Amino acid sequence: MTKLPELPAPGGSVRFPLDERREAFAVRLADGTLRAYLNVCPHRAQPVDLGDGRLFNAAGEMECAAHGARFDPSTGTCLGGPCEGQHLVPLQINEIAGSAWVEPFDPPAG
Ligand code: FES
Repeated sequence: MTKLPELPAPGGSVRFPLDERREAFAVRLADGTLRAYLNVCPHRAQPVDLGDGRLFNAAGEMECAAHGARFDPSTGTCLGGPCEGQHLVPLQINEIAGSAWVEPFDPPAG
């Protein structure tokens, strides 16, 4: 498991290395729920951010600066842009006693 370096504040995010070759991020939704995703845009596999490391646009959506894909932080679904209807890869995240861990992720074979 990978321990998050810190917990995101409500409406905020934390990026972290998932392993030696992949990055992930966690977001805390307005209701306090944590979500975590691989930081790989389903469009062309680039990191999801606004080009300066921030994930959220003014509308509260996560946005990929590369070609403008916008994602629902609660589901990882692309709401608009070149990969509309596709999804970020969700990660299992557990928060216990002020810390959070992400379960190992192995992509499906094939
Ligand atoms: S790589 Fe994210 S929108 Fe193209």
